[in-house]
Amino acid sequence: MQSLGWDLVRADVDLIERVWKERWGLPLCSVGRTFMPRDVEGRALVMGDRMLGLITWVVNGSDAEIVTLDSFVEERGVGTRLLTAAEEAIRTAGGKRVATYATNDNLHALGFHLRRGYRLVKVHQGIVAELRKIKPVIPEAGRSGIPIVDLWEIAKPLA
Ligand SMILES: CC(C)(COP(=O)(O)OP(=O)(O)OC[C@H]1O[C@@H](n2cnc3c(N)ncnc32)[C@H](O)[C@@H]1OP(=O)(O)O)[C@@H](O)C(=O)NCCC(=O)NCCS
Repeated sequence: MQSLGWDLVRADVDLIERVWKERWGLPLCSVGRTFMPRDVEGRALVMGDRMLGLITWVVNGSDAEIVTLDSFVEERGVGTRLLTAAEEAIRTAGGKRVATYATNDNLHALGFHLRRGYRLVKVHQGIVAELRKIKPVIPEAGRSGIPIVDLWEIAKPLA
């Protein structure tokens, strides 16, 4: 994996807000929780003044949630590097389990996580209809035209 010149930097609220607005819309919604940029911690991977990716998360005691993971230069190791960095930070903060959520059209993200020690632990069936009441911009159909209806809970114990 070529990573020469990549730096991992703490992401401030303004940066997180900009990326979230572009990629996800506000607020970020998971199961029973919503997040604004001020609620999370984040790291960006940068090369000079170019941002390659961003990861954000929260830790609550021994439980942690990765709220977003975005790679802007895919299949070059950016996502893996960010995920590894977040897991290290979560572990340092006392996290023993990390979860993340993906909509049921995101087969690519599911595979990415399953190959990195995560397991699909729950399908929150039909929950996206509830989330649309908070966030109406969630589209009806996602990747490959798959109707977005469920959230997958994907989790991993941290040793
Ligand atoms: C899922 C996501 C974060 C992955 O990011 P990424 O930067 O492509 O991830 P990586 O490059 O580390 O890994 C992707 C693949 O590229 C491969 N790869 C890494 N470096 C490579 C290189 N130099 N050349 C060729 N392939 C490479 C990896 O081996 C990996 O394959 P694997 O999963 O079979 O091991 C990215 O696709 C993304 O941002 N998706 C949209 C947002 C999203 O869905 N987020 C997750 C929500 S749960």
